[in-house]
Amino acid sequence: MKLLAVVTLALLGACVSTSRDHADRRNGPTTFAMDLHSHAQPARARVTHVALDLAIDMDSKTIAGSATLSLARPDRAAPLVLDVQGLAIERVTGKDGSKREFIVGAPDKSLGSALTILLAPADDGIVVAYRTTDRSDALQWLAAEQTADKKQPFLFTQGQAIFTRTWIPLQDSPGVRITYEARVKAPKGLTVVMSAEQLGQDADGAFRFRMTKPIPSYLVALACGDLAFRPISERCGIWAEPSVVDGARKEFEDTESMVQAAEKLFGPYRWGRYDLIVLPPSFPFGGMENPCLTFATPTVLAGDKSLVSLVAHELAHSWSGNLVTNATWRDFWLNEGFTVYFEQRIMEAVYGAERARMEWRLAIDDLKREMSEQEPWLHVLHIDLAGKHPDDGFSGVPYTKGAAFLKRVEALFGRERFDRVLTKWFDAHAFQSVTTETFLAFLDAELLSKDARLAKQLDVQRWIEQPGLPEELNVLPSSSLERVDREIERWKATKDAGAIDAQGFVTQQWQHLLEGAADTLDARAMGLFDARFGLTDTKNCEIACVWLRLAVQHRYAGADARLEQFLTDIGRRKFLEPLYKELKKTPEGLERAKAIYTRARSRYHALTRDTVDELLGWPFTKGG
Ligand code: BES
Ligand code: ZN
Repeated sequence: MKLLAVVTLALLGACVSTSRDHADRRNGPTTFAMDLHSHAQPARARVTHVALDLAIDMDSKTIAGSATLSLARPDRAAPLVLDVQGLAIERVTGKDGSKREFIVGAPDKSLGSALTILLAPADDGIVVAYRTTDRSDALQWLAAEQTADKKQPFLFTQGQAIFTRTWIPLQDSPGVRITYEARVKAPKGLTVVMSAEQLGQDADGAFRFRMTKPIPSYLVALACGDLAFRPISERCGIWAEPSVVDGARKEFEDTESMVQAAEKLFGPYRWGRYDLIVLPPSFPFGGMENPCLTFATPTVLAGDKSLVSLVAHELAHSWSGNLVTNATWRDFWLNEGFTVYFEQRIMEAVYGAERARMEWRLAIDDLKREMSEQEPWLHVLHIDLAGKHPDDGFSGVPYTKGAAFLKRVEALFGRERFDRVLTKWFDAHAFQSVTTETFLAFLDAELLSKDARLAKQLDVQRWIEQPGLPEELNVLPSSSLERVDREIERWKATKDAGAIDAQGFVTQQWQHLLEGAADTLDARAMGLFDARFGLTDTKNCEIACVWLRLAVQHRYAGADARLEQFLTDIGRRKFLEPLYKELKKTPEGLERAKAIYTRARSRYHALTRDTVDELLGWPFTKGG
């Protein structure tokens, strides 16, 4: 990939490249970590506030309107450089309405273009009039038929990592924090929600929002559809389509307890409300931590709360990620590793130590499987993304290896001490964007420099800069998985599905059973499992995903129809990727994958499409 960003930066003047995050409380930082994935030059001219005035048109699938950007201008001679991708820029004016000259630079496939605006000396803000296009990859427009109730169309955005630039012209770097407000008009009968405080509707029906805390651009988010709301507590509630909302409220009824547990661990929840919205199944992720309003897949509605660690996870991002943010996508593990660690602590507090141990054991098993097939550069926490899209570095490593590192620090220095350090970390860096270097300096000052022996045992460099996985993983025995281990042994010894006692199994136990039996299954044995446990018909998507992968592996035809239906209805990348990968392993499977993908592709979010396009070699040529 060509990094035109670098060329642009060179042309427009030196950019400040520093790893330190100095913060002036009133004016924000004066220096910025070098972000390979943004054209912006925030040290010279920076966006501080975004005021959106937008209208959603479900028929033409466009959002149109204006973004009024407030500016800080340390270098008054410098132009304003924004990131844009797939946007039609119609007009740029000063706040007085007079025109400003602008240039949209040559597009880079991953990064889009620099939008360079020549400012007048007195400008402290500018207005960009624009509309989105069919290349606005943050947006997914769903036909009514792709929703639960099948009556109204639906729209949602996905900003992380670098998609916000495809629906809002701004400085799309996690090192640049903004506040925002929005006025959004939607077709009659549809509700708009955003990652912000809701201010109700204007007389003309437009929805109003405001986010008064400085956030990174990837957290600006919007959803629009036929939505209902159910409260859980004073500050928590659920948004979803009418037919989904009551079930979702029940599944997530412990959310308030989770917020309280989180606050007890690492300090106050600083965002006012904590709501969730359950989206249609094409949502490409499990969850997305948009502030005030977590976006979630309906595939976690298992009916028995077995997948609610997703809520713990997205909630934890309210500290690790949203309050203290990775300054660049190289530092992504600071977001996700901390969040998985914190998620585990919330799960332990609300559901007990055994639940947390069970989930941790499975996460480590998954990580090991994944790492065994990965190139070593992907194993490194402080990942090198030069010349790459942030998504190229996405894997279980920043999540699970990142959390394993923090668990190791906890084990060495003691929980109480580490809790105090983490609380201080969140307080001291609240509403700031930070690099790996900043965290390591903090850790050194607070813990490592105080105990050379433990510091040596920890060996930070090995964890942060090296490939591979250290052995100190703190996987403690889980009685619920040990029970499954015994059933796996029984199966292996008897090959009798009837002898397996799966009474009361939760999702994770099924996953563990199927992974443990995987190598000893064949099509006939799968038929016996199916007859006894009805796995092909399970409504639980986590279980279905493992089961369908095994069905492909062992050519179990009994699941063929379900596989096609699953791949068509669900757009969650974590499920689609392993299934298409498994299909790809044989020539017949690849043909099948291509046939299904040809029908399903237009139903997926751009982000999922990008992944599967690459995996299967889209566009398909005849015979190839
Ligand atoms: N922030 C991530 C999702 C994400 C990461 C989107 C990178 C785009 C780029 C979110 O918090 C997340 O990690 N979701 C997980 C769920 C979780 C329980 C591990 C997911 O979607 O699977
Ligand atoms: Zn996360």
